[in-house]
Amino acid sequence: MNLNLESGTFLVAASSEGLGYATAAALADEGARVWIGSRDIAKVSAALDSLRERARKAGSGAEIDGCVLDMTESASIEAWVLKAAEKFGPDLDGIVCNSGGPPPGRFADFDDDQWKSAFDLLVMSAVRLVRASLPGLSVRGGAILVVSSTSVKEPIESLILSNSLRSATAALAKTLSAELAPLGIRVNCLAPGRFATGRVSRIDKAAAERRGITAEQARAASEAVIPLARYGDVGEFGRTACWLLSPAASYLTGQIVSLDGGSTKGVW
Ligand SMILES: NC(=O)c1ccc[n+]([C@@H]2O[C@H](COP(=O)([O-])OP(=O)(O)OC[C@H]3O[C@@H](n4cnc5c(N)ncnc54)[C@H](OP(=O)(O)O)[C@@H]3O)[C@@H](O)[C@H]2O)c1
Repeated sequence: MNLNLESGTFLVAASSEGLGYATAAALADEGARVWIGSRDIAKVSAALDSLRERARKAGSGAEIDGCVLDMTESASIEAWVLKAAEKFGPDLDGIVCNSGGPPPGRFADFDDDQWKSAFDLLVMSAVRLVRASLPGLSVRGGAILVVSSTSVKEPIESLILSNSLRSATAALAKTLSAELAPLGIRVNCLAPGRFATGRVSRIDKAAAERRGITAEQARAASEAVIPLARYGDVGEFGRTACWLLSPAASYLTGQIVSLDGGSTKGVW
């Protein structure tokens, strides 16, 4: 299948590692123009080097650039989108609303300020990135993809901030899918189960400490309840994200797509 992404322009937030990086890599493999960013400029530079090297080896023709970005800061998001327009031009084919995850914990662990920070990280980050990108996305129609979590369908133990606030972002995406459809803009959420990233290693480590077991035992316990019996590989996430962003998914909007090795128990 040709995804028709050559020379399309995509902004991928929070993409110096993990799921965001994997999405940027999959788009680059398709020959797209990819703009990346995260808070740590050293990590952004390293990601740019490795993505460009990958594109050079594959001969994909992708153009990759980016700069520092803090998804909790409105001004930083606006500047990031503006700099992308200076580099690749103002018209956009897709954006990926991604950010770091909030800290794990239970209800008693968080005060108001921590709830507000998590709201900025998970909800306002998407609101602000969509707002800043809308003029560019409206020119030829494009796709918005929100990196979500299966926790919007099945809350996960000891992740109360993520469980609660991602539901708001999922409702935002569903509402936008109807509002923006007349502009030819599709809006979907991609909801990962467990992928082997730095964040999941940290979550496994915290779970291991709570239960007095090793991180390897915590991971094995998580994998045991996944029908495909393993964590996802980030490349599997990147390729699915890339397809959802592409014209190949042109009739798909307003959906939460679970990518979880079968771990979500519900039918819908
Ligand atoms: N991995 C999974 O299995 C899984 C499952 C469900 C949901 N999720 C969610 O998916 C998202 C990505 O997860 P991940 O596993 O890829 O995380 P990760 O391995 O921790 O990577 C996070 C990336 O986001 C960047 N980042 C963090 N905070 C940022 C901010 N405020 N502004 C801009 N960039 C920021 C980081 O770079 P800097 O440190 O340089 O900023 C890094 O590049 C998270 O929201 C996570 O909760 C992941």
